[in-house]
Amino acid sequence: MQNNGGSAHVETTCDIGFIGLGVMGNNLTMNLVDHGYRVACFDLDQNKVDAILDKDASERAKDAAPRVEGCSSYTELLSKLKAPHLIILSVPAGDPVDHVCNHLIDAGIQADDIVVDTGNSLWTDSVAREEQYKGKFIFFSTAVSGGEVGARFGPSLMPSGNPYAWTRIEPVLKSIAAKVDAKTGKPIESFVPGKPVLEGEPCATYIGPVGAGHYVKMVHNGIEYADMQLICEAYQIMRDALHMAPAEIAEVFRRWNNGKLNSYLIEISAEVLEQLDPETNQPLVDVILDKAGQKGTGLWTAVSALQVGSPAQTITAAVFARSISSLKEERVAASSVLAGPEASVFDDEQKVSIINKLEQALYCSKICAYAQGFQLMAMAGKEHGWTLDFGEIAKIWRAGCIIRAVFLQSISKAYENNEELANLLMDPYFAEQITEYQGDWRESIAQAALAGIPCPAMMSALSYYDSYRSAVLPANLLQGQRDYFGAHTYQRLDKPAGKKYHIEWSDPARPQTAIKR
Ligand code: 6PG
Repeated sequence: MQNNGGSAHVETTCDIGFIGLGVMGNNLTMNLVDHGYRVACFDLDQNKVDAILDKDASERAKDAAPRVEGCSSYTELLSKLKAPHLIILSVPAGDPVDHVCNHLIDAGIQADDIVVDTGNSLWTDSVAREEQYKGKFIFFSTAVSGGEVGARFGPSLMPSGNPYAWTRIEPVLKSIAAKVDAKTGKPIESFVPGKPVLEGEPCATYIGPVGAGHYVKMVHNGIEYADMQLICEAYQIMRDALHMAPAEIAEVFRRWNNGKLNSYLIEISAEVLEQLDPETNQPLVDVILDKAGQKGTGLWTAVSALQVGSPAQTITAAVFARSISSLKEERVAASSVLAGPEASVFDDEQKVSIINKLEQALYCSKICAYAQGFQLMAMAGKEHGWTLDFGEIAKIWRAGCIIRAVFLQSISKAYENNEELANLLMDPYFAEQITEYQGDWRESIAQAALAGIPCPAMMSALSYYDSYRSAVLPANLLQGQRDYFGAHTYQRLDKPAGKKYHIEWSDPARPQTAIKR
């Protein structure tokens, strides 16, 4: 017991140590204290430690004891924790994680202490770290989605690692996670400090061995890239083909948000489009430079899809869309050299019809993006020996995370109805949805192509759908080409699978087709 300077007499023993008090760390810590945990905090930047002490002081009840304790070293942090220690890290992915882990070793961390990495780490780094720190402490990883607000009031959590460690961490993570109404699949939210949501299904489930959680989060971000890009393409079609103002487009998004496209990303897109620039009073979106940033998780997803051989072209197209956006100067130069089609003019009735069709195009494309993400997780899971429960993964994405959307309830049902589902597109509900709306989807994309408006993600989604439903693809010709120039061999439809064939293509004695040029 010690006197912390105030009138209250407080326990010095904290339940959890928290290292890294940036935006995410600060908010996760406040989320933990709202759920009754006492947290010892440390950051290399003393200002951040002071900031969280102030925040706790301003948010806790007047006579209540402090719920966080500031520390000025790793050793002090360990000394304030109940044993065995539970330490959560929120530091930038990469070297800073190892930097902290090594300092904790120097400070005397024990073999049965647990260190939980919550950053956007590359999943292979988590696998290596578990091995690297074996015997020194238990390295566990918990991917977090939800940004600042999610971290504060309930994120979606994707924990993975040592199953024994999970038994110790589970109550903590389930308490701070976002909550969902199991029946409707809708988030149960409270954004009031000190009044967390206690009922509902928590958006935290054990994903599997270490690395699996961060892999799943990486794919979540790949889907996030696709989802965002698809919305941006719908925006550009309305903006450039229909000449609508940002506020009008916001209204359309708000309407869509009441239907099957209901999602956090549609909701915030409407808010972004409504925002005025305080300096110029113009729509803020019109003064934001059209160069997209990226921190790498979308790229990692695309690279992994290529390595695993899982078609994820909509996710990859979304990553490339950011790349081409960053070539601003080249695009500006090209815009006055490279010709496009003449702009068409649409009357109000045509506009309404185009917008209605665009809603379906966005929906069908979105289904394909999710289908690609789940297919990628399935293929990677097989490769790495993870038994991923897709029904559960869809469930923990229904609230708290950036891609939270009403239709994740249908995705979780699809996998609950059929655990062996090869592809989301093969689920009877989604297959029927695309059958119903594909005409509008195709028309929207055709219109965009005719108007010269790029929509790489939507187009790739449609190609994915058409490729996936094609019993025969032109890979027969491709195999012929490969065998022609490189004797790479081909298999035959009329012979047992696996047997390889090769012919001398230029042999004049070979039978040739009758029509010769
Ligand atoms: C989340 C977000 C989060 C972060 C992205 C942004 O799930 O909370 O995905 O992880 O905002 O890393 O990524 P980019 O900077 O690459 O867009």
